[in-house]
Amino acid sequence: MTVQDEITRAVSELAGSSHAIALTGAGISTESGIPDYRGPKGVWTLDKQAEAKAYERYEMFLGNPRHYWEEMLSGQGAHGAFYAALRYAQPNPGHRALAELERVGVLKHVITQNIDGLHRRAGSRNVVEYHGSVDRIRCPACGSRRGFESVTPGNLPPYCTCGGVMKYDVVHFKEPIPFDVMEEAEHQARVCDIMLICGTSAVVYPFAALPRTAKLGGKSTISIIEVNAEPTPLTLEGVTDYFIQGKTGEILPEIAAAVRKIKAGE
Ligand code: APR
Repeated sequence: MTVQDEITRAVSELAGSSHAIALTGAGISTESGIPDYRGPKGVWTLDKQAEAKAYERYEMFLGNPRHYWEEMLSGQGAHGAFYAALRYAQPNPGHRALAELERVGVLKHVITQNIDGLHRRAGSRNVVEYHGSVDRIRCPACGSRRGFESVTPGNLPPYCTCGGVMKYDVVHFKEPIPFDVMEEAEHQARVCDIMLICGTSAVVYPFAALPRTAKLGGKSTISIIEVNAEPTPLTLEGVTDYFIQGKTGEILPEIAAAVRKIKAGE
């Protein structure tokens, strides 16, 4: 099948679906100027030391929360550049296309690994932020979340009213996925009849297990569609039913426009 044939098939399946969801990764935000992690110019691709430090961040929080906060707030290193890029980023046509698919009643949920908040800013309302968000802090002890307004650099780490130590509401490597987020994502994977997977290398678990959860524990009629710059393990292992190669910022708007026409009876 050509890319156009695959887009036509995706449009037809989405228009006829009853519970389509999208899973997204950093690839959907690269066209907003935010680097991904493992693509050719990814943060980890270019700076293996930054990746190694990221693997230690959760243990640093557990062992020395004050140092964790000082380092996160200092914005040093490649990860600091990543956080800096987040501040100026705007939603791109890929994010807006998924918001449009939700607006016309086709897309029921977006489950994103991204912490940039761009799906919400593009207008998507049903968003599960599987790895959290840079806009909030969270108490691992009781799960409560709030904004950064309570964080004062001279008084670190911030404490929760329950007495727990607060951290960025960003899931670090080796950190458990918050239960409420995990439960919602699993539920959506089991009830969806279309899973549109956009801009992820699908190598980080447990997120990367969601397509298999859908395939093996979900609806028998499930169709898994992948939109990505390059094939992933999901493509190569046949978890994906078909793979549309290219840029999310180009493919998703074409799909959304065609679905909108069908839903409008044009
Ligand atoms: N259109 C389509 N695909 C793209 C685009 C684009 N414009 N830009 C990049 N990609 C692809 C890359 O080729 C790559 O396959 O998106 C994928 C991004 O993969 P990663 O960089 O690994 O990002 P992601 O899958 O989200 O990483 C998962 O790893 O470091 C952790 O917590 C971090 O949430 C992140 C997780």
